[in-house]
Amino acid sequence: MVKISPSILSADFANLERDIQKISTADYVHVDVMDGVFVPNITIGIPVVKSIRAVTDLPLDVHLMIVEPGRYTEQFCDAGADIITMHVEADTEERLHTAIAGIHAKGKRAGIVLKPATPAEAVLPFLEEVEMILVMTVEPGFGGQKFMADMMPKVSAIRRWIDARNPDCELEVDGGVAPDTNRTCIEAGANVLVAGSAVYKADDIPARIELLRG
Ligand code: DX5
Ligand code: ZN
Repeated sequence: MVKISPSILSADFANLERDIQKISTADYVHVDVMDGVFVPNITIGIPVVKSIRAVTDLPLDVHLMIVEPGRYTEQFCDAGADIITMHVEADTEERLHTAIAGIHAKGKRAGIVLKPATPAEAVLPFLEEVEMILVMTVEPGFGGQKFMADMMPKVSAIRRWIDARNPDCELEVDGGVAPDTNRTCIEAGANVLVAGSAVYKADDIPARIELLRG
């Protein structure tokens, strides 16, 4: 079954608990962490993850858009993150391996994220050791951007590698996922869809979440 991970980047941060309750029928809560260096935007961090943890039982899918993410992965685990994804462009291969091992030592799931310009092959050194691979379908940094359909061959290539070498690994897409783009993602092989504006702009959020499952 396709899973939906609504991005709270499109929520009202002054009413975050209320807006997290609105997505209680989803599978994960997608938390976008940005440092103003790896991406040209700054969002939320460890104290907010800790506060969110207290108001939902859904797994927290924390997308780190920060440089050298391994500096903070232990703190995000302790704050209550369940899945932590790190950009392959954000650190050396060696340090990313170390960070993944640290996340696993905390009993949490780890993942690798690819920006649009990064080729599918960049996941190969991590393929057997992660629980999630995230393919960006917009440039990371902001919600509400246009879906990049030309990322679908990358999703399909990674789906084939996952099926052959790590079938339990989840394949997530993030950016511009909406009722007119979700099926393309599912057909390409994604099984987790992140959606921010498409969820929070809907009048009936539970119905929109069901619709996005395809
Ligand atoms: C962008 C974030 C996304 C964003 C998606 O850098 O990683 O999670 O919130 O927003 P939509 O679904 O509106 O494109
Ligand atoms: Zn994200």
